Amino acid sequence: MGRSLIVSAADIPDCAARCVADVDAAKAQALGEELGCGWVTDNDALLARDDVTAVIIAAPNFLHRQIAEQAAAAGKHIFCEKPMALNKADALAMVEAARAAGVKLMIGQVLRYLPPWHYIKSLVDSGRLGKPFAMQTTRIGGGWGGGTYHAQWRLKRETCGGPLFEINAHEIDFMRQIMGEATRVTAGLGRFVETEIDYEDLAMLQIEFADGGFGQLLAGHCAQIGIYEMKLYCTNGTVMAGGPHGLQYKLVGEDTVIVSAEEQQAEPGVRREVREFVECILNDTEPTIPGEEGVSNVEIAQAALIASEERRPVDLPL
Ligand SMILES: NC(=O)c1ccc[n+]([C@@H]2O[C@H](COP(=O)([O-])OP(=O)(O)OC[C@H]3O[C@@H](n4cnc5c(N)ncnc54)[C@H](O)[C@@H]3O)[C@@H](O)[C@H]2O)c1
Repeated sequence: MGRSLIVSAADIPDCAARCVADVDAAKAQALGEELGCGWVTDNDALLARDDVTAVIIAAPNFLHRQIAEQAAAAGKHIFCEKPMALNKADALAMVEAARAAGVKLMIGQVLRYLPPWHYIKSLVDSGRLGKPFAMQTTRIGGGWGGGTYHAQWRLKRETCGGPLFEINAHEIDFMRQIMGEATRVTAGLGRFVETEIDYEDLAMLQIEFADGGFGQLLAGHCAQIGIYEMKLYCTNGTVMAGGPHGLQYKLVGEDTVIVSAEEQQAEPGVRREVREFVECILNDTEPTIPGEEGVSNVEIAQAALIASEERRPVDLPL
């Protein structure tokens, strides 16, 4: 993911890749040479460079807080991949570190910029659907495949957090985008199929939102037939995404509209998030996805773990 982000950054006006840091020297060297920039195996060596204004953190999840705090102390603006952290306290510490250092902190919740999600958000924002009151998302698949997705850090709760952090930080974020802030989480999590991981391979969440709506999420790594779909119910219409019909919606009194893949096209999501990060630094504006949003997403995932463990609804804020 770090490669994808820095390659996008290097392509943005007024922005250049200066240095890559990776504890794996071969990876750092390969990417540094590809980009024609420096490479190091020690994050401090990167942070010590005067020609580095901002950093992109795409290290394993459990390292996000530590690296963000180091970057803030060095006065560097921070773009951090999702999940922001593995618990609310760590995420809040990152917000505080950035605030104290006077640097920007943006979280890579890129799903909201990808099709069909950005299209659905603009449809909701147009007001034509009326008020959203229920949202159901299913994102379920098989175990972690090969390649980097099989990295050791992804197999342990301590380093990865489990599916609600590593994968569904995206769906939780999008649900908040549409439904508003969450007030209560009920959840059941369990491990039924996967043996390589030390965390749950199934998560079922029910989320209550401040203005009375409900959200449901079914997620995990335990399915032989994977599915990724979303249904959104609003007072003036219904939206469905994923499944055999792709993106479609129907407003009260109108025909069903099927939105083609071409109509959903937009600026590539990773490029957009990096461009917005660069622009918030150059223009000294608030990041479009500030640290506080990452905190709220982490908080919901953490609340789900507590709800499942203690078999009770968990009220937010934690
Ligand atoms: N936004 C998305 O859709 C998306 C997609 C994939 C991954 N991610 C996120 O990006 C992050 C990285 O995921 P990935 O798939 O690239 O993982 P990865 O394992 O492929 O890469 C992580 C890299 O970090 C390096 N690393 C480990 N410890 C380090 C340290 N202390 N300092 C510097 N580098 C260190 C590793 O050597 C490795 O090259 C995770 O937080 C993940 O959740 C986001």
